[in-house]
Amino acid sequence: MEIIRIPRIVQDTCKKHRMKGRSVGLVPTMGALHEGHLSLIRRSRMENDITVVSIFVNPLQFGPSEDLARYPRDIEGDSSKISSLETDILFLPDDALMYSPGFATSVEVAGIFEKLCGRFRPGHFRGVATVVAKLLNIVYPTRAYFGQKDYQQTVVIRRMVKDLNLDPEVVICPTIREHDGLAMSSRNAYLGPEERLAATAIYRSLTRGAEAVLQGERSARRIREMVEEGLRAEKLIDRIEYAAAVDPVTLDDVEEIGREILLAAAVRIGNTRLIDNLLVNV
Ligand code: PAJ
Repeated sequence: MEIIRIPRIVQDTCKKHRMKGRSVGLVPTMGALHEGHLSLIRRSRMENDITVVSIFVNPLQFGPSEDLARYPRDIEGDSSKISSLETDILFLPDDALMYSPGFATSVEVAGIFEKLCGRFRPGHFRGVATVVAKLLNIVYPTRAYFGQKDYQQTVVIRRMVKDLNLDPEVVICPTIREHDGLAMSSRNAYLGPEERLAATAIYRSLTRGAEAVLQGERSARRIREMVEEGLRAEKLIDRIEYAAAVDPVTLDDVEEIGREILLAAAVRIGNTRLIDNLLVNV
């Protein structure tokens, strides 16, 4: 596995692979890798000749009061996990090379900031879209891999790729969960043992909503209330940012559930913000 820190070198290396007719898969991450990340890497390995994993804790997508400084970092652990999966290139840029002095450009996907996580994390999706646009331009992959766990992020990236005529196929992979259903997340590491137990209420509540939909409930408001009730019953959940039943394409609220519905929730347990979602096909 090659470890490359300089964007220009990654760009040249990947360009050479593409010119030789090799497909390149990109898995963008912020590190502290868990099975969720590794599932994306395995998928990329299966579908491409060359797999590039990037690890970059992108300051642009963290708000001033968010967890940038304490975001878990474990480069040694991460690189051994990545290399055991026979990744070809680990791209580890530092802030100064990604955002050089005078950096002034950003990518804004209009409308998205009003919805779900966007309402609670101003500027977050602008930061995500901007860094992903840069990574796609640096690596120029055939395919780029993202997890459904961050559903709204996949909507933003798909929209951006389409609107800006970017090249790669965007591949969305299923959410990987712990045995008790909790969606894997680098932020789970912040949770104490009791909080960790409380966090299982998120998946449980979403599942209850999904089961009700599958049993014939068509009122999105009822489903929302049901998910919210489940979350409210857990005392260690300090704040419910949203419990939503929305159109999976527009992320707008719906009244009556049609063919597909996205159930999504964001909560705070202590200082830790956790999100999860389930896509329900009726
Ligand atoms: P990060 O949170 O490190 O996640 C990297 C990728 O792993 C994302 O596509 C995310 O959706 C996926 N992922 C995380 N948990 C997962 C799980 N339990 N199952 C499946 N996939 C999972 O998302 C980011 O980083 C950043 O916003 C990034 C796209 C790298 C831009 O900075």
